[in-house]
Amino acid sequence: MSQIASLFATRLYRAALSEFDPAIDGSELETSCLTIAEDDEAGQDWCVQNEFPGYTSYASLSDLPWRFPIFKDLVAALDAHVADFAGDLQFDLGDKTLQLEDIWINILPEGGIHTAHIHPHSVISGTTYVAMPEGTSAIKFEDPRLAMMMAAPPRIASARAELRQFLYVQPNVGDVLLWESWLRHEVPMNMAEQDRISVSFNYKWE
Ligand SMILES: [Fe+2]
Repeated sequence: MSQIASLFATRLYRAALSEFDPAIDGSELETSCLTIAEDDEAGQDWCVQNEFPGYTSYASLSDLPWRFPIFKDLVAALDAHVADFAGDLQFDLGDKTLQLEDIWINILPEGGIHTAHIHPHSVISGTTYVAMPEGTSAIKFEDPRLAMMMAAPPRIASARAELRQFLYVQPNVGDVLLWESWLRHEVPMNMAEQDRISVSFNYKWE
């Protein structure tokens, strides 16, 4: 009887944000994201100058949790999710901890995309989903070993998730996804008429 093991796992964490306290009011979070985007002229200018579709607070607002109490609460809940994931990953953190490095708002309009990228300098990255209109984009993850697979055949359409070279995940509003920051991901084109709103973040080991 042969035995086949899976090695070098890539873990993807998915949970309802509400699994950990404090409770976050989803509609209040959505309103806050929209209000912040509307008021953030420096951020709007940055998006225009950099041909960034829609809005991100990434380049303009580095202190959301200090300015807005709902983001402070959100970070407290995310800290608990990240600690949970770090346990699953069996990280040996020593005398350092995983701490929030950045947190930012993304508003992706119809036709907007976020091309494939990693999050350098961080350990855990993730997103929580604020508005996911019907028909909007999933998030697409890519096998980090893809560059080594120059002669490998593609996988069958019904391949198990852990054997696929690309994986699409369609989160619901109120979900949080976490992954290791080296994992390449992208948001394909938003085909919905309404904005896709999410809050992304990085955690560092310090
Ligand atoms: Fe990202």
